[in-house]
Amino acid sequence: MRILVTGGVGYIGSHTVLQLLRADHEILVFDNYSNSSPEAMRRIKHLSQREPEMIIGDIQDSVALSNAFRYFRPDAVIHFAGLKSVGESSIVPLRYYAENIGGTVEILRAMDDVQCRRIVFSSSATVYGVARYLPFDEGHPRNPESPYGRTKYFVEELIKDWTVAGLDRSAVLLRYFNPVGADASAILGEDPNGPPNNLMPYITQVAVGRLACLSIFGDNYETRDGTGERDYIHVEDLASAHLAALEFGACHVGCEAINIGTGHGVTVLEMIEAFEAASGRKIRFKIVGRRDGDVARSFASVEKAYKKLGWKARYGIYEMCRSAWNWQLRNPDGYRQL
Ligand code: WQD
Repeated sequence: MRILVTGGVGYIGSHTVLQLLRADHEILVFDNYSNSSPEAMRRIKHLSQREPEMIIGDIQDSVALSNAFRYFRPDAVIHFAGLKSVGESSIVPLRYYAENIGGTVEILRAMDDVQCRRIVFSSSATVYGVARYLPFDEGHPRNPESPYGRTKYFVEELIKDWTVAGLDRSAVLLRYFNPVGADASAILGEDPNGPPNNLMPYITQVAVGRLACLSIFGDNYETRDGTGERDYIHVEDLASAHLAALEFGACHVGCEAINIGTGHGVTVLEMIEAFEAASGRKIRFKIVGRRDGDVARSFASVEKAYKKLGWKARYGIYEMCRSAWNWQLRNPDGYRQL
């Protein structure tokens, strides 16, 4: 298929584009490099031995989008592009609403202009907010607690309305839990701008010596060991879920929300233990106060992903840690060339 991938050079986008190229899809990447690097694009080409097309642009730029869609005429869209920091979204909410919601409206308009009727959207388990029950299934009430989470909720709703408003339209909303890890080659990986907000990149930067000590945000939660429990998913498993969603969308109409996780929770202390076993490196940490907005436990019901997509996670926490460490060890400064 001809797939236009917005945000295709970012962390999850780059791993997905690599798998799409290896599956012989024709790809156009639309990315503004705001949270990614041209070096990552070079590495995608090297690993795939393919020359995917690329247009540098922002999803709020309706002219750039329209030109890209009229030029490439995709069969389907995978939409990753957007702002994704929970903390930052509370500081600059209008930027998040304009980019994440306004940008998606522009993408759907450009799709309609060329009769493209298939979309896979990068949503997030953040839409659920505090658990009423666990594991989270797709019917769990959505009550996001941050502007970022609310943009994901509103985009899910606008995509659903778009699907219903036209004939033969399909949308798959993938609700990611906690993506971690890197491509087996250790040539692609996670390279956050500035000090990492998320646990795994913080751990890998402590392990490689870029950061001195991990702060564990609270050890008095109602969990096995008092630290926060999350459903971590290997980025390679997450990427393959997008290919499965594309196949599903190609032969179904309507809008489906689907959780993408392993179905198992791992606490912060368990993650540290797994990482030390996988890397052979000791992780210095200290316990500090809870982080605003954090929930105690979050993990997915993954029955629908298997039933609808025939997909389930292959990798466990050890492989996630091993791949994350191999990436960081080989790329101590991420994609920045020394
Ligand atoms: C995981 C656990 C922290 C950092 C976020 C976004 C979510 C999604 C994934 C986009 C928690 C603890 C973390 C640290 C710590 N992103 N932690 N010290 O918060 O579950 O989800 O990333 O869609 O939208 O909310 O992930 O990795 O930040 O935290 O103790 O330095 O690690 O308290 O228990 P989170 P995380």
